[in-house]
Amino acid sequence: MPDDLKNSYRAGPDSRGRFGNFGGRFVSETLMPLILELERQYEHAKTDDSFWAEMHDLWTNYVGRPSPLYHAARLTERLGGAKIYLKRDELNHTGAHKINNVLGQIILARRMGKTRIIAETGAGQHGVATATVCAKFGLKCVVYMGAHDVERQQPNVFRMRLLGAEVIPVTSGRGTLKDAMNDAMRDWVTNVRDTFYCIGTVAGPHPYPAMVRDFQAIIGTEAKAQMQEAEGRLPDTLIAAIGGGSNAMGLFYPFLDDPSVRIIGVEAGGKGVSDEMQHCASLTGGRPGVLHGNRTYLLQDDDGQILEGFSISAGLDYPGIGPEHAWLHDIGRAEYVSITDREALDAFQLCCETEGIIPALEPSHALAHVAKIAPELPADHIICMNLCGRGDKDIFTVARALGIDIS
Ligand SMILES: Cc1ncc(COP(=O)(O)O)c(C=O)c1O
Repeated sequence: MPDDLKNSYRAGPDSRGRFGNFGGRFVSETLMPLILELERQYEHAKTDDSFWAEMHDLWTNYVGRPSPLYHAARLTERLGGAKIYLKRDELNHTGAHKINNVLGQIILARRMGKTRIIAETGAGQHGVATATVCAKFGLKCVVYMGAHDVERQQPNVFRMRLLGAEVIPVTSGRGTLKDAMNDAMRDWVTNVRDTFYCIGTVAGPHPYPAMVRDFQAIIGTEAKAQMQEAEGRLPDTLIAAIGGGSNAMGLFYPFLDDPSVRIIGVEAGGKGVSDEMQHCASLTGGRPGVLHGNRTYLLQDDDGQILEGFSISAGLDYPGIGPEHAWLHDIGRAEYVSITDREALDAFQLCCETEGIIPALEPSHALAHVAKIAPELPADHIICMNLCGRGDKDIFTVARALGIDIS
């Protein structure tokens, strides 16, 4: 381990892929050779200048990075209190942060000689990013998507098909992200020879959580430099929404060893965190167990059966959370809160009206928490929030929730 990472929050995971008691590699024997090969490729890529040169070229010329760090002046004025900056990752090609990570995984897949890429998607943003990069490199792409999500994210389903991907609706369970991930895992076990599983968040077996985090850390690395340029100092508080936790880990990671920076992850509180499980707040309302190859906090019943979560936002509708978040939660380095559907909808409208930005429903949860705490903070307190997706995909859901017919 490099000297500067000793006693660092950024030192994890250990050699077995664990963040404290979380993470690891709980997979079938069939998958082990493939996962070990991926780990080998990734370990090599980490210190391979040609890998990072290719990533930076694509981030710059294909994705449009760096995304701006934007002072939301009218939102700041409306809320009164802390100064609010938005990291504009919704301006990336394909409309969200997901493509930051997809590019890294597809470069690795090509290096491993894989010709068929599979992915799971909730809101469709990871599916669209994967279909996009597969089209760019001429790779076959299959996307698993819960049938319920297919229904509520129609624009993204159409985009994926336009991009040449096969979209497979998954009808098991409640037809959401967990079920799509289960079917993608099944496909992977069956087709290990030619297939690469491109996971969309900081979950799955080691090395996925660390690898996806490292690809998304471009968000925090840029934000840190941009904040120094704009304010000459670090932000006081970071805020990001959490489904599996990749955009949040990407923003948080470069700041973990800066003790003055308060870190807040926002989970989906759905209709309110209660025993009825009408929410997706795994840290606030769940407990540790194993799902999708890693140990983390999960929504589960007394017998350890995974419970279906609920959120108005398809991208946050996952009953687990990345293992690094589970660890940061338990050691107290980051705080995790939940926001209800109603609060997220109000924040969605507030952002449209004050900033002329239509946010996705996922970061609207983070915005709602900003709206909750900013008024209580002094004017010299700086909040940096990751606006990780744009809201075009959500206008039908929002219209329905507001009782407006636009069909
Ligand atoms: C715009 C947007 N934000 C956030 C998420 C949640 O994912 P994560 O927590 O991995 O960033 C999604 C997932 O689909 C998304 O589309």
